[in-house]
Amino acid sequence: MKLFLDTADINEIRTVARWGVLDGVTTNPTLFARTSGMTYDEVLAEICTITSGPVSAEVIAEDVDGMLKEGRHFARIADNIVVKVPMSETGLEAISRFAADGIRTNCTLIFSANQGLLAAKAGASLLSPFVGRLDDINEDGMIVIRELADIIRFHEYDSEVLAASVRHPRHVTDAALAGAHVATLPYKVFQQMVHHPLTDKGIAQFRKDWEAAREALAAKRPSGSAKKGRAKS
Ligand code: E4P
Repeated sequence: MKLFLDTADINEIRTVARWGVLDGVTTNPTLFARTSGMTYDEVLAEICTITSGPVSAEVIAEDVDGMLKEGRHFARIADNIVVKVPMSETGLEAISRFAADGIRTNCTLIFSANQGLLAAKAGASLLSPFVGRLDDINEDGMIVIRELADIIRFHEYDSEVLAASVRHPRHVTDAALAGAHVATLPYKVFQQMVHHPLTDKGIAQFRKDWEAAREALAAKRPSGSAKKGRAKS
């Protein structure tokens, strides 16, 4: 399963890339609005120097010609740009036109398996059901992930299901078990996945025991040989 970072924050992207677990990045206008000092084009270009995985760049236009113009512009920024297009009648048309031109797309704002099926048929590379926003309105976002992943596999579409609007680590586990090909996570969720109270406690205990053992050995061997590291057996 691939893990994308859901952010436009360059420092967060650099950090997760250093961990060796970053497969791509998704951005949207809200995430871009949280950055400062750079244009959207500059942010996208910088992200594409950090990862060679897919980097989603979202169109703002709501008409087909406008979406095509913005998407073609994004696609010229770097080879790994994927044009993010909202689910709509004009969005589907734009996705099919991008597919004919060989430009990859991420169909965003998907809230039902049927919307995902339409996007797959139109030729979207990535299908993004929003899990958290469905949970927010007392629905079960993971049902859409599971149904869509089954449809894609059963009918052998080339599209990949991307679990978006992820709110917590349990969403990641559930999306993986439901057959999502990708999940895109906020930086905070990546951090939450790394940590476990017993892991953190275990690291602290090992450090404490190691120091105690060194001090005990140093007390027995005042020459200082034990201070340099592990004692030879
Ligand atoms: C990613 O592609 C989506 O835009 C993002 O996951 C939406 O997340 P939100 O529902 O937390 O805004």
